[in-house]
Amino acid sequence: MTSTEITRDVVVVGAGPAGLTAATRLKEAGLTVAVLEARDRVGGRTWTDDIDGATLEIGGQWVSPDQTALLELLDELGLETFERYREGDSVYLTKDGELRRFTGDIFPVAPETEAELVRLIEKIDALAAEVDPDRPWEHPRAAELDAISFEAWLAAETDDQEARDNIALFIGPAMLTKPAHAFSVLQALLMASSAGGFSHLVDADFILDKRIVGGMQQVSIRLAERLGGDLHLGQPVRRIAHGPDGVTVAADGITVRAQRVVLAHAPVLYSRIQFDPPLPRRQHQLHQHLSMGLVIKVHAVYDRPFWREQGLSGTVFSPYQLVHEAYDNTNHGDERGTLVAFVSDTHADDVFTLPDEERRARILASLAAYFGAEAENPVVYYESDWGSEEWTRGAYAASFDLGGLHRYGADLRTPVGPIHFACSDMAGAGYQHVDGAVRMGRLVADTIAADLRGETLPELDAIPTASMLVR
Ligand code: FDA
Repeated sequence: MTSTEITRDVVVVGAGPAGLTAATRLKEAGLTVAVLEARDRVGGRTWTDDIDGATLEIGGQWVSPDQTALLELLDELGLETFERYREGDSVYLTKDGELRRFTGDIFPVAPETEAELVRLIEKIDALAAEVDPDRPWEHPRAAELDAISFEAWLAAETDDQEARDNIALFIGPAMLTKPAHAFSVLQALLMASSAGGFSHLVDADFILDKRIVGGMQQVSIRLAERLGGDLHLGQPVRRIAHGPDGVTVAADGITVRAQRVVLAHAPVLYSRIQFDPPLPRRQHQLHQHLSMGLVIKVHAVYDRPFWREQGLSGTVFSPYQLVHEAYDNTNHGDERGTLVAFVSDTHADDVFTLPDEERRARILASLAAYFGAEAENPVVYYESDWGSEEWTRGAYAASFDLGGLHRYGADLRTPVGPIHFACSDMAGAGYQHVDGAVRMGRLVADTIAADLRGETLPELDAIPTASMLVR
């Protein structure tokens, strides 16, 4: 294949929300850019597509009120939001399979378990308030909190198994999509503080508040329109040569020489690129302590939202079910009804060993446990399987293993010479969310623009100036 060679000020690897925010902002600052994207579409982990006649959000979709960077961007791009349907009762299934209807945030459990839930939520809220999501490693007890798994910490906090199972659910299966024994308390507190507090993760009406008319991928599609010919799709970056004079970034059909490069994708994919010279020891090590979670996002479309007829909101939870949570995900203006359901971590491992039809039957049976037999007969059924996507490798995002956040977190965003990093998976506020991707895109663009102008950033909020760090 013949390769085109071009020269730009900055090359951005990845056309997800972080890369496209960075590229458009750099362009606004008067710099020339090229964006190289491996896939034949923009949006990364946001992808709105039509499957068998139903428009589905295959990746990220919800926006919460504290996600102000994304909300500002939606305004700027002229994108409208709509509320998730939430009238009526939610459903909780006990370990024995008893179905309990409820309203509000606290699951309908025995009074003593409820008291434990409330106590633990308050305790985690208080701890999360002590953690700066941009610098969790600076917490005075960071080393100690990073050395104990969330599961072990919960076990030491309470003997109430149902309270433990439910608190673990909010951060494990529902957010980091890893079992609660696989991440630390500090990592859990980062997750909570990045969303403004643990209570926000418990409150589905907050964290899963709004959706975007036309779909979340519109954010990337509209940003990409501003780039015109500076966006190159179908160009997986294979090699980055770098030195004091800049970088040479080689994709399959294009090579870009630039002063800076931004790697705007999940950190687990850095090792896909050959670096010359190799990345420093610190980066080699730290990148091995991050891994993606695993979750199957299941879309089931029915001829009508039948659960609403029973006075149900579509919101259901149980730490004891294959589907640990589900919501009414009916699309804007659609007369049909859609449920979105989630199967996480070890449950996802288990059902991925099954033939497709058996997996579908198991997942729909779990939905039927909450909604009745009608749930077993959707007109459209689709499983988002990001673990199989070469350019993502899991969902929703990357998190550190036990002890990794306190040991390596501070260097996650540190540039290596002309190589900068930006992704939702290294955000403080908005961590693991599109909002965090936008924040990291802005930050890296401002850092590079200031650095190339020979300035230092006046507000060193999240990271030191690049000029201090370039080595
Ligand atoms: P992202 O992964 O989106 O983009 C990176 C891009 O880089 C990709 O397009 C990839 O192809 C490309 N790339 C990788 N390696 C490359 C290489 N070597 N060369 C060229 N290109 C390369 N968030 C939210 O706010 N609300 C929500 O409801 C959800 N829900 C949700 C559900 C599911 C199923 C998923 C998978 C994710 C979410 N998220 C979410 C998370 C959200 O989608 C995610 O945080 C952002 O998309 C991350 O944006 P980034 O730009 O950082 O990376």
